[in-house]
Amino acid sequence: MRQVIDQLPGSKIREVANAGLGRADVLPFWFGESDEPTPAFVRDAAIRSLNDGETFYSHNLGLPELREALAGYVSSLHRPVGADRIAVTSSGVNALMLAMQALAGAGDEVVVVVPVWPNLTAQPAILGANVKRVSLKVKEGAWQLDMATLLDAVTAQTKVLLVNAPNNPTGWTLTRAEQETILAHCRHTGTWIVADEVYERVYFKPGARCAPSFLDVAEPDDRLVVAHSFSKSFLMTGWRLGWLVVPPSLLSAMGKLIEFNTSCAPVFIQRAGLSGLGGAADFVPALIGRLQHCRDTLLPQLAALRGVQVAMPEGGMYAFFRIEGHDDSLSFAKRLVTEAGLGLAPGAAFGDEAEGWLRWCFASREPARLTQGVERLKAFLGL
Ligand SMILES: Cc1ncc(COP(=O)(O)O)c(C=O)c1O
Repeated sequence: MRQVIDQLPGSKIREVANAGLGRADVLPFWFGESDEPTPAFVRDAAIRSLNDGETFYSHNLGLPELREALAGYVSSLHRPVGADRIAVTSSGVNALMLAMQALAGAGDEVVVVVPVWPNLTAQPAILGANVKRVSLKVKEGAWQLDMATLLDAVTAQTKVLLVNAPNNPTGWTLTRAEQETILAHCRHTGTWIVADEVYERVYFKPGARCAPSFLDVAEPDDRLVVAHSFSKSFLMTGWRLGWLVVPPSLLSAMGKLIEFNTSCAPVFIQRAGLSGLGGAADFVPALIGRLQHCRDTLLPQLAALRGVQVAMPEGGMYAFFRIEGHDDSLSFAKRLVTEAGLGLAPGAAFGDEAEGWLRWCFASREPARLTQGVERLKAFLGL
C-alpha cells in the first residue's frame, strides 16, 4: 500500500461517535447533517424513476435535463452559467476529489485555508500533492482570514488554492471584496481556485439568498472550479449527489474523470435532485429559516455560559466554541459523550489549529433538543 494511504489519520469525529455507540440516551450533534429526512416530493421522484425502470447508466456528465436545471439554478443565484459548465457528481466530496484529480498531482503545491472539514486536506494528500495550510485567526471568538498571510502563501508555485466558505467548522464566510482580491492574486500567480461552496445557501445574513460566491466575481474562463452538493440545502446527505461548475474548457476532462471514478451518478438519484431543484424556491428558504431558528436557539445559550468563547456564525450549521480549561478536544468530547450524554465533534478533527475547540451541529428538527444539550453541558461543567 502507498505510505500516504497507510498514514491517513482516522476520523476523530468517528472516534467520539464510537464512544457513544449503541447508547440511545446520547444527544448526537457530532455529524454535519440535519436529523430531518429528505422531503417527500424528492423521495417520490426517486421512487417514480425506479418504478419507471430507470436503472441504467446516464451520460458521464449527468442527465441533460438535470444539467440544464442546475445551470438555471446557479444562474438564478449568480452570474449566468450555461449547462456547458456543469458536471453532475456522486456527492460533494466526489466533486471535490474530481476537481483535485484534474488539477493537482504528485509533488504539486495545494494551499488550503484551515481549519476545515478534514476531507479537503486528505484528498490532495492522497494524490501525492504537498498541502500547505493557511490558518484563519481567532479575533474575539470569531475566526477570520488574514489576507496578507494568504496572499504570501499563494505563489507561482501554487497549483491550487482550496477554500471552503461558508466554512465547516468555523462558520467563517468570505466577503465579495475578499473574493475579488483572491481572484486577482490567483490570476497573477496562475493558481486554480477550488471553491467548496456546499453551504452557500446556509447563510443567515438578512436579505441574502446565499453567501458571496466566486461565481459572482469570476469570468467563465477563469481558473475556477466550484463544488456543490444536494446534501445540505436539500436534506439529501445519504443520496450522494453533487455538481461542479467548471470553465467550459475543463468539461470534457471532467467527463473522462467521472467515467473512471463512478461513470455517472445513479439516474433515479439524479431524478430526485431534479425534483429538488423544481421545489427549491419554496423549500430552501423554509429550511434555512428553520436552521436560523436552531442557530438562534443554541448560540445565545452557549455564549451565556461562563468560560465559553463563541461567535455567531453567519453561515454553515455549526456552533464552533471553546471552553476555558478544556484544551484537549478529543478527550473532552469523549468524556462529554460517556459522562454527559452529549455528542460533539472535537476541534482537533479539523486540524491542529482548532485544537481546544468543539463543533456542535445545530441542524435539528427539534430545537428543544439543543436546549437539552446545553443543560447537559451546564451540569457537566457544574454551572
Ligand atoms: C465543507 C464541506 N464540503 C463538502 C461536503 C460534502 O458533502 P457531500 O459529500 O455530502 O455532498 C461537506 C460535508 O459535510 C462539507 O462539510
